[in-house]
Amino acid sequence: MIISFSTNTNFSRIKLHELSKRGLKEMDRITSYENYREAWNNSHENSQDYWRRIAETYQWSRPFDSISSGDFSDLEIKWFEGGQTNITTNCLDRHLKHSANKKALIWEPNSPDEESITLTYQELHAEVCRFSNVLKEHGIKKGDRVCFYMSMVPELLTGVLACARIGAIHSVVFGGFSAQALAGRIIDCEAVMVITNDEAYRGAKTIPLKEITDLALETCPSVKTVLVRERTGSSINYKEGRDHKLMPLLKAANSKCPPEAMNSEDPLFILYTSGSTGKPKGLLHTTAGYMIWAAETFKQVFQMQNDDLYWCTADIGWITGHSYITYGPLLNGQTTMMFEGTPTYPDAGRFWDIVDKYEVTHFYTAPTAIRALQACGPEHVRSKSLKSLKVLGSVGEPINDEAWQWYNKEVGKERCPIVDTWWQTETGGIMISSLAGVTESIPTYATLPLPGVKPLLVDSDANIQDSKSAEGNLCIASPWPGMARTIWGDHERYRQTYFSTYPGKYFTGDGAKRDEKGNYRITGRVDDVINVSGHRIGTAEVEDAINEHPAVVESAVVGYPHPIKGQGIYAFIISSAQDEEIMAKELNSLITKIIGPIAKPDKVQIAAALPKTRSGKIMRRILRKIAAGEIDTLGDISTLLNPEAVDQIIKQTASIKE
Ligand code: WT7
Repeated sequence: MIISFSTNTNFSRIKLHELSKRGLKEMDRITSYENYREAWNNSHENSQDYWRRIAETYQWSRPFDSISSGDFSDLEIKWFEGGQTNITTNCLDRHLKHSANKKALIWEPNSPDEESITLTYQELHAEVCRFSNVLKEHGIKKGDRVCFYMSMVPELLTGVLACARIGAIHSVVFGGFSAQALAGRIIDCEAVMVITNDEAYRGAKTIPLKEITDLALETCPSVKTVLVRERTGSSINYKEGRDHKLMPLLKAANSKCPPEAMNSEDPLFILYTSGSTGKPKGLLHTTAGYMIWAAETFKQVFQMQNDDLYWCTADIGWITGHSYITYGPLLNGQTTMMFEGTPTYPDAGRFWDIVDKYEVTHFYTAPTAIRALQACGPEHVRSKSLKSLKVLGSVGEPINDEAWQWYNKEVGKERCPIVDTWWQTETGGIMISSLAGVTESIPTYATLPLPGVKPLLVDSDANIQDSKSAEGNLCIASPWPGMARTIWGDHERYRQTYFSTYPGKYFTGDGAKRDEKGNYRITGRVDDVINVSGHRIGTAEVEDAINEHPAVVESAVVGYPHPIKGQGIYAFIISSAQDEEIMAKELNSLITKIIGPIAKPDKVQIAAALPKTRSGKIMRRILRKIAAGEIDTLGDISTLLNPEAVDQIIKQTASIKE
């Protein structure tokens, strides 16, 4: 394949012998601010050339005919059409020639006393092929949906890649969701197989994943096969003919499996996420565009050298774990780490012990973890070396100044650039971030849009705010390769959710500010989505769950500032019940059952009435202010149907406990 370079770029070119050592055909690294500007301009002015050049550095079994088509009006967005590739060829096979013995995966178990596992690229390739053959032996073929409900064991990563290798569509459900939530996702995508653990280790606790799966499967007729990765060895039920132990199957399987030739727009995975209305949405990501985006954004943002070691602490159950534990690092031939446990087990020094143990250079985590560890006191971090660290990353929610400063000082020892990466399940990969050591890190700012990303700030009347420094709702102007193509089974909902508020633009649901120099600061969601410990929760979903309680007449759920979690969940309810504490307990167990423990409210308040407009709509804006304690800035409430409800609620709030 001919690799063409446009003449108007001056990317730093790494010498060819360096490249072959890396096992990559080409490395185009942005290495300075000017370089970044040029790349960004080029990505918009010569978009087709820009992406062609990047895409041609990957392996295709058939070259693509065109770069991109479709827009935010027709919503028929396609990238690299006519091409065929397999993301696992690019993650694995491509590196075998030069980096077969390089570490691909390091797995650190929940308990520091247990042995870790390391797989080279050669070994990971073989494991993925074995898993692919097991899937095939159980009838899985291209296009089938396979659901993973697992903890962070190596087989979650190899299983996901095995699906991609044979063209099955993976859908990973985070292990903190309930049986009912799991069932809802399985039913929605009609998964034919579920892969789970007997139990998960999580700090000092175990979670009975197989038991939860069994409960879920009572309502999921599409599932024919369950594979169980034994982890704790607890005695669990195996349903004859349906359930099989995974590990013996893997051991017996052949370690060679040819990759399925996937069309660029063939589905790669579905990942469910919450929105402001209705049930969770299954965002669909497709093969080639997602691949290029995950790879390119990882490369430019983290700026890794060949011998560096990267660790992202996310769970593969979220998009961060898809793009930046699994695909992004492997596409770049880097070593990725997977951690099974929690930041505070056996103590609040665990992250830093792991950093020192493996000499991690690039560390990527969420503000909620930073704040939680900060609250445990500086001794846990100060007693560790951390001298291997070079780059720190933040993802999932806005990082407040205090947490940013602590991260910079106590963890990075003021010598590691921080990349604050803004993106979403929908975007597939990072959209706004500094490039480590290349562009400036600014506390609390995600900073600059990556090449290919054109952010717009709009006011509520859809006017674009085009002065340099501005504030507004964050939209994206034009398609990028990694964007989700649809909501599984509901393209109309995709249009409604993302493209109807501001026609012709993708609306992110976030608010943002821009400074004079074009740096973006994300201020948080402007819709009815709350971000609790970096987990995205739809208030409507929580309300629906609360309303199932027989004593609840009506409810309104809002987010409020929480010192560790970023946002906490505040539930206002109208109820015949009197005792708030009992009610809070009952609602906790109800929500745990319907959604999962991650959606439990932090505060429950029984109100006499909820503030409403004359047309009967609950004024969540006012409840949000009350929950945040901002009662001096409620604004005009005289037009409400029941302004007296506001005073009553404010009087009660003082006594509400967490
Ligand atoms: C929402 C997306 C991105 C992967 C993990 C979360 C918030 C994410 C940042 C950041 C401020 C952020 C936004 C976004 N968010 N990263 N660096 N600064 N806010 O993915 O579950 O799809 O949630 O997380 O509100 O819309 P997600």
